[in-house]
Amino acid sequence: MEILVFPTLEDLSRKAAEIFVDISRACIISKGKFTVAVSGGSTPRRLYALLGSDSYREKIDWSHVYFFWVDERCVPKEHGDSNYGLVFKILLSKLAMPDENIRRMKGEMEPEKAARAYEEDLRTFFGKSALPAFDLILLGIGKDGHTASLFPDSETLGETDRLVVPVFIEKQQKQRITLTLPVLNNGSQVIILASGSSKADIIQEILGRKDSAIKYPAGLVQPIRDNILWLIDEEAAKKLER
Ligand code: 6PG
Repeated sequence: MEILVFPTLEDLSRKAAEIFVDISRACIISKGKFTVAVSGGSTPRRLYALLGSDSYREKIDWSHVYFFWVDERCVPKEHGDSNYGLVFKILLSKLAMPDENIRRMKGEMEPEKAARAYEEDLRTFFGKSALPAFDLILLGIGKDGHTASLFPDSETLGETDRLVVPVFIEKQQKQRITLTLPVLNNGSQVIILASGSSKADIIQEILGRKDSAIKYPAGLVQPIRDNILWLIDEEAAKKLER
């Protein structure tokens, strides 16, 4: 595990954009494609904007990049809560990519069916027998320690067979779809982005007190190749001893 702390969200986002460029180039050279699973939320917005900006857009061969989603809210893709909609608006609409490279979760479908359909899509793309191994998985973290749409105490945390599951979030009375822990933990490189003082307590719990990390979904992201990188800004890191 590696933890990098940056003065601001801007610095952190630039680092994430550089890593995105480096990994995508290396994957495209070595195997002709780059697969990334992206998150919603507010933290990665700047990263997505940077990737779509003049300074980064030309550095990536987008025709060989395949976008997947870590989770989705059960709303139509035009809805303001849609994670696909967020990434499309900020980044994908700026790129000329073949439709088949953009593999969204279908938030407009009935949740169980949408989860099954996405699992089928993953199995078709990555092969039937093995777990999908994304080249890069971009995650965020909530104040309660959730990541993707894996929330504390949810039974989905114990899922070992399914790649994608529907989740009902009691607090918000909302339905979502999420990748499961086995898929997150099989990522070749996993990056968790955290910014702002509202994340300071949970960052201290997970990164500062090793014993309590596994109480939280984000702490259960322990990729089998141990390639997890936390990119955090000073505000979020202010309760960590350094
Ligand atoms: C989503 C996410 C979710 C997010 C965290 C952090 O769909 O909202 O995938 O897991 O990453 O809630 O969100 P912020 O970046 O807004 O703090």
